[in-house]
Amino acid sequence: MTKKILVTSALPYANGSIHLGHILEAVQTDIWVRFQKLIGNECHFFCADDTHGTPIMIAAKKLGKSPEDLIQEVQKEHYRDLTAFHVAYDNYYTTNSEENRKYSEEIYLELKSKGHIASRNIEQSYCEHDAMFLPDRFIKGTCPKCGAKDQYGDSCEVCGSSYSPKDLKDSYCAICSTKPVLKESKHLFFKLQDFQTQLKTWMEEGNRLNEGAQKKLQEWFHSGLQEWDISRDGPYFGFAIPGEENKYFYVWLDAPIGYMASSMNYFKDEKKFNEYWRDGKGEIVHFVGKDILYFHGLFWPAMLMGAGYKTPEQLNVHGFLTVNGEKMSKSRGTFINASTFIKYLDPEHFRFYLACRLGNGMEDVDISFDDFVSRVNSDLIGNLVNLVSRVSTGILDKLERRLGKLSPEGKELVSELLSRKDEILDSYQSRNYSKVMREITSLGDKVNKYVNDYAPWVLIKTDPEKARDVVTTSSNCAKILFTYLAPVMPSLSDEIKKLYQLDKLDFGNIGEFLEDVTLSNYVMLSKRVEEKNIQAMIQETKEAFEKANAGVPKVEVKEISESGTITIDELTKVELRVGLIVEANLVEGADKLLNVKVDLGEKGIKNVFAGIKSAYSPEKLLGKKVVVVSNLKPRQMKFGLSEAMLLASGKDASLSLFVPDREANPGDLLK
Ligand code: 2FM
Ligand code: ZN
Repeated sequence: MTKKILVTSALPYANGSIHLGHILEAVQTDIWVRFQKLIGNECHFFCADDTHGTPIMIAAKKLGKSPEDLIQEVQKEHYRDLTAFHVAYDNYYTTNSEENRKYSEEIYLELKSKGHIASRNIEQSYCEHDAMFLPDRFIKGTCPKCGAKDQYGDSCEVCGSSYSPKDLKDSYCAICSTKPVLKESKHLFFKLQDFQTQLKTWMEEGNRLNEGAQKKLQEWFHSGLQEWDISRDGPYFGFAIPGEENKYFYVWLDAPIGYMASSMNYFKDEKKFNEYWRDGKGEIVHFVGKDILYFHGLFWPAMLMGAGYKTPEQLNVHGFLTVNGEKMSKSRGTFINASTFIKYLDPEHFRFYLACRLGNGMEDVDISFDDFVSRVNSDLIGNLVNLVSRVSTGILDKLERRLGKLSPEGKELVSELLSRKDEILDSYQSRNYSKVMREITSLGDKVNKYVNDYAPWVLIKTDPEKARDVVTTSSNCAKILFTYLAPVMPSLSDEIKKLYQLDKLDFGNIGEFLEDVTLSNYVMLSKRVEEKNIQAMIQETKEAFEKANAGVPKVEVKEISESGTITIDELTKVELRVGLIVEANLVEGADKLLNVKVDLGEKGIKNVFAGIKSAYSPEKLLGKKVVVVSNLKPRQMKFGLSEAMLLASGKDASLSLFVPDREANPGDLLK
C-alpha cells in the first residue's frame, strides 16, 4: 500500500549563507524523499527560508534595504545553493508569507482560547537610542568571569562561560554603543508544562525518535518543562500578535508553522492539506539537527496538540557536521560555504560521501577531505563507475553496442545482487545510509572481480560472443547497482538510464533484465577528485575569512593564557568520552601500569596503558565506565601503543578514576 508522507528539513535562517552543515541535512532528507518516491510512495518535500527576527531587521537596515527585499535576495541564493546539490524540493517557500501569518494567528488564538497562554511583565535591556529591546546577542560588554572585553550578552567566547546580560560589565548596545537601561514590558508565554503528559506519551509511542534524542527529551522532562516566551516588542520584523499593541510573535513561534505554510502554498487545497495536518492518513516527518531538538521535540508538538493539529510521525535528529573531528572553523578554512564547494568540486560526490558517513543516530558526522578523496576515487570512480566505463566504449563498440542474453552464470550474479534488495530498502527506510553504501560497494567489488576474471578486453579479440556475454552480465549488474544508488546519486543514475535506454530506473523495474538491447553512446559519468581542488577550496575559504576580519582587533588570548586559563577553542579540542572497560590486564615488567581496552561506542575499542595499578586491580576495572580523553594522538610506549587516556585524581592507593554519575553509554561525548 502506498503511503502519504510529508517531509521537511529545518528552515535555514535568512541571515547567513548555506554551508556544508546545511547540505548535510538537506541531502540526508533528500535521499530519504527520493527513496520514498522511488518505491512508489506519495511523498512531498517542503522547506522555506526562516526570515523573521531582530538580526534580519538590523542587517537590512545596515545595508539600507527593507527586510522584505533582503530576505527575497537571500531566499534566491539559498535555493540556488541547496538545489545545486540536487536537493529536489516540491516547494521552497518563505516564512514571511500570508499563509504563515494566517496559521500563526490561528494557532496562537486557539492556544489562547484554551488557556495555554499566560502573560506577565518582565524586565529586559533596552536601548534608548535605538528605542528597542535588545536580544542577548545585541548587547556586548566585559565578561564578568574572565574580564575579556566586547563579549556577547549571553556567553563569553574567550572563557566560554554563560551568564545573563544583566551581569555583563560595562555593557553597551551592539548597534549604537550606548549603555542599555532595564525596562519592563508585558510578555506572552506558552504554557508548555500543560502538555507534559501528552508529550511524554507522544515521545514514547512508535518509532518517533532515535535513542539519543529520546534520552535528551527524558532529561528535559526530568528537570521540568518551563513556560516559553513567545512575544517580542516592536520594532521587530515578524507578525504582529492579534489583540496586542506593538507585540510580535517571536521568530521561533512562526518558524515551524512555516512547514504548514509551505505545504499549503503547494497544495492550495484545504482538503489535501488536512490529509497531512488534520486527521487524514498522511504522515509528517521532520529532519532537524540536535541543536534545535528542544523546539521540535517539545514546543512544536505541544503547539500542534494544543491547536488541534496532528503531531509529527517521526522526528529524525542528526548530529553536527565536524571536519577532522573538530567543529567547522572559518580560520582553518573548514567552514565551507555551499557556493564555494561547487566552484571546485562535484556536489554529487559530496552526496556520495555524506551517504557513506551517515547513520541514523544523533552522533556528530565527521568528515575529512582526505577520506572524501579516497572514498570518491576508489569506491565511486574506481569501483562503481569503472564497472560501466571499462566496457562501455572500446568493447561495446566492437559488439555494435548490443547486449545478448544473460547466461546461467550471469543470471546467478544478477540474482545475488537482487537478493540484497530488501536489506538495502530497510536500510534506506531506517536512514542507515552508510550501511546501504557498504552493501553497494561490496557488490560492486564482486562484479568487478567477475569482469577481471574474464578480461573481456582480451576476449573481444579471441571470442567476441563470450565478451558479449560478460558485458551483458556486467551491464545488468550495473543497472541494479545504480538503481540502488539512485536516491544518493540522482544525476549519475539518470545518465545510466540514458545509456541503457530505459524509461525509468526505480525499485519497480529493478528485476527486469537488459537483454538484446542496443546501448547509447557512452558519456563520461564522473571524474576523479583532484587534491588541488580541495586545497583551492580551503584556501578560498580561509582568505574570505581573513578579508572579512581584516582590521578587526583580535581578542587578547595571550594575556589570559598566561594567567593559567585556556580559551574555549582550546578546550573544545579535547574530546572526552564515556568508555567502557572491556578488558584489563597486568603489564609484565611494569610497576604502575595496567593495560586496558576501552569501548568508545562508534569510536571503536582503544588500547590504553594507564598508571592506575596502585589503586585498581584488573578485576575491579572490568565493566566499569570511565571518562576517557578519546582524541589523544596514539603514543608508542615501552609496552605498546596507548591510544587514549583515562582521567583520574589523586595518587597511589587513593588514586580515583572519574566515572559518570548516571546512566551513560560507551562513546557518549562529555559536554
Ligand atoms: O536553526 C535554524 O537555523 C532555524 N532557522 C531552523 C528553523 S526550523 C523550523 F522550525 F522552522
Ligand atoms: Zn543602541
